[in-house]
This record gives sequence, structure tokens and C-alpha cells, in this order.
Amino acid sequence: MCEGQVKNIMEYETVALDDEGSALVILDQTKLPGSAELLSLHTGEEIWDAIYLLKVRGAPAIGVAAAFGIYLLAKGIETEDYDTFYAAFCRHKEYLNSARPTAVNLSWALNRMEKVCTDNRTLPVAGIKEKLKAEAIALKEEDIRVCRAIGEHGLTLVKPGDGILTHCNAGQLATCRYGTATAPVYLGQERGYHFRVFADETRPLLQGARLTAYELYASGVDVTLICDNMSATVMRNGWVNAVFVGCDRVAANGDTANKIGTSVVAAVAQRYHVPVYVCAPTSTIDMNTLTGADITIEQRPAHEVTDMWYEKPMAPAGVKVFNPAFDVTDHDLIAGIVTEYGIARAPYTESLREIFEKKKQAVG
Ligand code: MRU
Repeated sequence: MCEGQVKNIMEYETVALDDEGSALVILDQTKLPGSAELLSLHTGEEIWDAIYLLKVRGAPAIGVAAAFGIYLLAKGIETEDYDTFYAAFCRHKEYLNSARPTAVNLSWALNRMEKVCTDNRTLPVAGIKEKLKAEAIALKEEDIRVCRAIGEHGLTLVKPGDGILTHCNAGQLATCRYGTATAPVYLGQERGYHFRVFADETRPLLQGARLTAYELYASGVDVTLICDNMSATVMRNGWVNAVFVGCDRVAANGDTANKIGTSVVAAVAQRYHVPVYVCAPTSTIDMNTLTGADITIEQRPAHEVTDMWYEKPMAPAGVKVFNPAFDVTDHDLIAGIVTEYGIARAPYTESLREIFEKKKQAVG
């Protein structure tokens, strides 16, 4: 356990609305694994900063944080007039949506919240605010169910004792429970599968070392931390039976944006005949984005590469730095996309459409 922490990290909620319904409470992920600190956020600027600075991060957690965030901002709009309310709502929505461009869950969650406004425009503004609160809470509960379902489907792809490699953190800390890429691991652990997990440290922000290794270790999973340049070695040694990764946006053809370095892992895995599975809630699949070439890749500041997490700068001052936060893994390197409605296989343009058809039938 880390400093000041009285409970296991798995008992903390990543994202929550406080009991009074007046603050967004997040576990500050930039402080992990050193200390477990909860932050109460109230203003648009605080929420925007928390998303941009990765205090709350991981596509599903960003979506849920944005849903609670826009509810709180909407609650603060003082008017009884729908048109005035809606115009202010849209301004707040646009602002939060600008925090990070690649994870589609951000705009997905905000669009869902906007639909609550437009569907209920005939209600008094106070009634719309109540509906927004209910929708944000529903979105969080849905995330937990979705992750568990992804875990069940993912578990069919591996067997007890298997070695699993993962990149970045698509764990419980990136969602409301279970994670996506880690969901098969957690469910397997409940059932005595004894997986051996290899967690890439994930340069430059070390989500694999700080978060994935931490949460798996705290859960009693057999986890081994490796540097990003070691994945070929562990695969060549025959220690990895499957790669499970998360995603920030899956295009209609299956091309997948995830944390920078994922495509390198996928290329190496192909060399060693290890299947790569992308664990993707349907909220992260964007059928309006046709291919990976259409995905906006977030560029982050140079100091994340040169200084952050180091005691001293680790690069010459002023050196040119290229710091894309995500890369695109081509769909032909992906053995399957694991959703809450089942596993999509190539050709993805068809199989992902079928997944959404299933979703439509299930939720109407
Ligand atoms: O920059 P981050 O830490 O938000 O990047 C997170 C990832 O790339 C995750 O793999 C992805 O969001 C899936 S989380 C279930």
C-alpha cells in the first residue's frame, strides 16, 4: 500500500459523484503509486485540467468523469429558460470535449448527456438537471457491466496458466471496475486461472509501471514489470500466449488507436505468432471514423519525455522531442476485438457492424 493509504487500491473508486451531488471525486492517478489522493473537482477548469493532466485517464474513466463533470456544470446554470440553458450547456460541453482529442469516450459521453437535454426539452430546467444526474450515474454503472462482459468474452481466448502481455493501463484505474484488457485477468483470477501477466512500463508516462503493475500486484495477480523494449524477448522466450490491450478509438475497419507503443507490440507479436486482442467497449468504437488515418492523435508536451518522473532531466535542454500519446495499430495485426457483445474478427467492417446490430437489439 502507498503512503497515507488505509485501504487496498482496488477499493478506491476511480471516478465518483460525491454524496451531496456537488463534486466530481477522482483518484489522482498522477500520484500513484506513491500516494492515494482523492480530488474534489467543481469547476469546468478543474475538470478540464484533471482530464488533460491525466489525473483521470483511460478512455472509459474519462467518459464517466466528463458525464459527471457536465452534470455539475449544467447544475450551476441559473436559468429557467430552456434555450438559454441549452446554449450554456453546449458551451460547457465544447470546453470539456477539447481536453483530449483521441479517446472517443469523451465526446461519446458528452453527446449522450446532450441528448438527455434535447430529449427532455419540454421539462422544466430543474427536471432536465435531475435527468442529467441519473444519466451520468447510469453511464458509470453501465461501464462496470460492460467491463465484466468484456472479461467474460476475453476469458474464452485464454487458458489457465497462460502468459498475457499488456501495454499501458487498461485496468480498473482506467474504468469504473475490472478494466478492459485486465478484465479477463481479474475474472480468471476469481476462477483460479493463475495467469502470468507481463506489464510494459509504457514510456513516457509509465502507466504500465505506475498503474497496471500496481493494481495487478495489489490484487495478488502474478505480474512482471518489463521495459517497453523487452516485449520481443518475453515473446521470443515463449512466455506470452496472448496480448490484451485497451483502446482509445477503434475505426470502422478495425484500425485501433491506443497508447503509443501498442503498434510496436502488435508487430512483434505477429513475428512470434502471439494473438493480439483489443478489448473495446462499444463506446470506444467509432463507426464514423473509417480508418486509422482519420484518427486525430494527441500530441503532448516535450517535458513528459525529457523530465517528468525523473529526479533530473534525462535529455539535453532544448532538444527536439516528438511525443504522440497514441499510435494506430493496423487492423491486420489484430486477432480479435473483444466487446461487451462478443468478439469481432476480421473483416472488421462487417463484424463491427454486426456487434452494433446486437447492441441495438439488446438496448433498443
Ligand atoms: O493517455 P492515457 O493514459 O489516457 O492512455 C490510456 C490508454 O491508452 C488505454 O489503453 C485506453 O484508454 C484504454 S483504457 C480501458
